[in-house]
Amino acid sequence: MIAVAVIVAAGKGERFGDASKVLTPLLDRPVLAWTLDAFEHATSVTEIVLVVGEHTMVPISELLALRSWTKVRQIVLGGDTRQQSTANGVRAAREDAEIVLVHDAARPLVNSDQIDATVSAAAKSGGAILAAQVTDTIKRCIQGQIVETIDRSTLWQAQTPQVFNVKLMTEMMALAQSGDVLMTDEASLAEHLGYPVTIVPSNSTNLKITHPHDVLVAEAILRARKEATS
Ligand code: CTP
Ligand code: MG
Repeated sequence: MIAVAVIVAAGKGERFGDASKVLTPLLDRPVLAWTLDAFEHATSVTEIVLVVGEHTMVPISELLALRSWTKVRQIVLGGDTRQQSTANGVRAAREDAEIVLVHDAARPLVNSDQIDATVSAAAKSGGAILAAQVTDTIKRCIQGQIVETIDRSTLWQAQTPQVFNVKLMTEMMALAQSGDVLMTDEASLAEHLGYPVTIVPSNSTNLKITHPHDVLVAEAILRARKEATS
């Protein structure tokens, strides 16, 4: 099965306060290097399309020259929104791709087992995403007042990778281009089209580097992982 991973790294890191967020060091290497390592080691992934910004094209090319990720076959420019960046990456996927994965470069703690499990679930059902069950009590509020408490037992936080068979992904990209659906992830498009999307249980360690303090948490998790394997 030919599976192409589109890794989107073209954001501007506004909440992080640094446009080169994906190159920020985590222990001994940049965020993006950890992410690429996980996909390089995932046996289900055939190759990687890396989506970069104009502002990071040069430093990312330097990083790729320095280390050898054999699966990175294409580097394409992203767009102003995550959705546009995803679309550019999907368009660049090889013609014979059967499965497409979309992953945030800013989620460096994903591991190869999680990637392989999500691909395997998507191969069966057509679409699958990593997600973590909500652990906090969730309130719906209007103007600072609680309206209701939502039953959290059915609530999941969507993460990436989000994985779809290529036929479905092509339909999803066409829908996104039509501009009719507001989406913050790929699964929303599949849901809108009425396709089933399987949840592959993850946990909060597959965090997204969004704010500066996320680096501290990510480094603590990586240190604990190192200790567990040494
Ligand atoms: N992304 C992208 N192209 C964009 C916007 C986001 O490729 N136009 C990527 C980011 O590089 C990141 C992932 O999508 O790997 C998730 O986005 P997010 O965490 O929101 O990163 P940024 O958009 O960079 O951060 P912010 O929203 O704070 O500016
Ligand atoms: Mg963003």
